[in-house]
Amino acid sequence: MAAPSLLKRAVRRLIRPHGSVVRQGEFVTFRPEGFVEAEDPGSLLCRHYYEVMQLRRCLGLIAEQGVKPGRSLEIGCGFGRLSPYIAEHFEQHTAVDINTWAVSEASRFYPKISFSVASATELPFPDHSFDAVITWTVLQHIPNSLVGKALSEIKRVAKPKSLIILCEATLYAGRPEKGWQYTHDRFPELYAEAFSPRRLIVSEFITELDRISSMGSPRRLMVFEPLDQADPDKQ
Ligand SMILES: C[S@@+](CC[C@H](N)C(=O)[O-])C[C@H]1O[C@@H](n2cnc3c(N)ncnc32)[C@H](O)[C@@H]1O
Repeated sequence: MAAPSLLKRAVRRLIRPHGSVVRQGEFVTFRPEGFVEAEDPGSLLCRHYYEVMQLRRCLGLIAEQGVKPGRSLEIGCGFGRLSPYIAEHFEQHTAVDINTWAVSEASRFYPKISFSVASATELPFPDHSFDAVITWTVLQHIPNSLVGKALSEIKRVAKPKSLIILCEATLYAGRPEKGWQYTHDRFPELYAEAFSPRRLIVSEFITELDRISSMGSPRRLMVFEPLDQADPDKQ
């Protein structure tokens, strides 16, 4: 069935050269049908639940790492498909995105979660507010010139004893930036340096995703450990 699917993709590219990606100022966001792409509804559901399973695996580290299940922040939440799964691990879940439509849909679906419009590069929260900060295929869409700002914002709003969880494309890191509509793969070391002295305790591709849905680049799960506040050398 490779040929019809290739043909379908070629036709789609002709109609929409940038796919479902839409430029929004310096950033990119997505048309309603394009936040999570898949060939058909079945593979979309498979992909979604596979990602939920991986996310829950990372969130399981909260207790293991002695992190308080207090406040969590999700950056680039889209229409909130992963938000309730994060919210189930914390007393209070906050989620932001630059896409006004997506944020208003998310608020409608999940009224108990606090959604608002904000950019990763300018988070409207005080320092050390959150016990966990999560991005799921978001930083990979932020251009190289601005990603440093987003990473220092994540570091600023995360409590020292918090978990930072990222799921981002990294396979083609080192290749030149291809243009605004594309994914900007980055080496995990870039994230590790930004969050130093935290250690990267999980760094692995979620490869099953490639079998389920044809992705441009497999996603890498990255989890950064909480800082040990008792040890001043580790802060
Ligand atoms: C591929 S979607 C992923 C959405 C969601 N995390 C999910 O997995 O369903 C990427 C999201 O990042 C958001 N985004 C892009 N640049 C952003 C920025 N600077 N700050 C916050 N969100 C951003 C987009 O609007 C979009 O909702």
